[in-house]
Amino acid sequence: MKNNVNLKEFNTFGIAVFASEFEELNSSDDAIAFFKSTELNGKEFLILGGGSNLLLTEDFQGLVIKNNLKGIEVVEENDESIVLKAGAGENWHEFVLQCIEKGYAGLENLSLIPGNVGASPMQNIGAYGVEVKDLITEVEAIEISSGDVKIFSNEECRFDYRSSIFKTTHKNQYFISSVNFKLSKKPDFNVSYGAIKSQLEKNGITEESLTIKAISDAVIAIRESKLPDPKKIGNSGSFFKNPIVSAAEFEQLKRKFKSMPAYQLPNGDYKLAAGWLIEKTGWKGYTEGNYGVHKNQALVLVNYGGASGVEIYDLSERILLSVKDKFRVTLEREVNIL
Ligand code: FAD
Ligand code: EPU
Repeated sequence: MKNNVNLKEFNTFGIAVFASEFEELNSSDDAIAFFKSTELNGKEFLILGGGSNLLLTEDFQGLVIKNNLKGIEVVEENDESIVLKAGAGENWHEFVLQCIEKGYAGLENLSLIPGNVGASPMQNIGAYGVEVKDLITEVEAIEISSGDVKIFSNEECRFDYRSSIFKTTHKNQYFISSVNFKLSKKPDFNVSYGAIKSQLEKNGITEESLTIKAISDAVIAIRESKLPDPKKIGNSGSFFKNPIVSAAEFEQLKRKFKSMPAYQLPNGDYKLAAGWLIEKTGWKGYTEGNYGVHKNQALVLVNYGGASGVEIYDLSERILLSVKDKFRVTLEREVNIL
């Protein structure tokens, strides 16, 4: 256990706040023993993966528990598919690349998402037409209050857009230790997202030469063109979720804002583009001191270096109010605020 640890290197926003206590858990047995012991003893705690979906607004007066559980195992395999169990502390993108290298399909559209495997079920990470719920078979987690191991089936996780029970009803109750993914040996390519099709064309990929590696390369190229690299500019990806409105609300909005992009969901509701709403309220590229709104993606708030979490939170509040004022739509933060 370390004391007074600067968390700047542990969050991709690059916010310098201190944690009173900091403990790293390196194996499932260590983690079970830790939660069965009295070490936590009612203390405030934060489970930390790659720190890429967090905004730290003040010093953390409790224990930060860094999840370093590694290992990738084959659970079952046949000619069609393979089930892999990946330790929560495995880096997400490296895991995706290993799967692509071996020809296991399913995760390629989720290339280059920062963070670790253990956080992937938390908000059901998604990008370019795929959500991780499409691949997860089960999640293994340790109950924080008892140290008991529990297996959650895909259904039990109640995955939704950027949500699961781990972010809602079971928040702060479980330490996710590993995640099982069912991947296909006979890929069914997902190129439904318009931007992927045009990037593949740009890369000279035809239907005949399409591979999961080509999809991954296209996704990486799109992401690198729009999203700031957290190693260079502090950020946590999309700061807000894309808001969902009823068909009636969307019709009203569309009458007033003719070019408003939206995507119809299977239940008839519409998902709006928060990036567009923020851009149309004039915030895209806005800079104040050493923080602001990214110039290529209005949904991404950035720290150019030295900003505080409170400054970024206040900016998000101002953006939220302008969007509400102009469109009568309430944005919800995607990033976990602490
Ligand atoms: P952290 O930030 O460390 O933690 C996030 C939350 O999960 C915290 O509440 C934490 O307490 C909890 N948590 C973490 N690990 C565990 C565990 N083992 N057990 C229990 N709770 C845990 N997200 C997308 O969905 N799609 C994208 O396309 C996307 N693009 C991004 C692009 C950039 C440039 C950045 C910076 C972020 C992006 N994100 C995206 C957000 C982020 O990468 C994901 O949410 C990622 O899964 C967070 O992983 P992490 O390990 O960094 O989690
Ligand atoms: N748009 C604008 N202005 C902007 C940004 C976007 O008008 O500044 C418009 C685009 O023109 C497009 C629409 O908004 O019509 C959607 O944009 P984009 O394809 O870039 O995706 P997004 O909705 O902004 C979502 C996810 C991303 C994910 C991408 C790709 C959310 C909150 N964000 O962004 O996830 O990578 O789709 O699938 O759902 C994250 O969660 O951190 C994240 C980066």
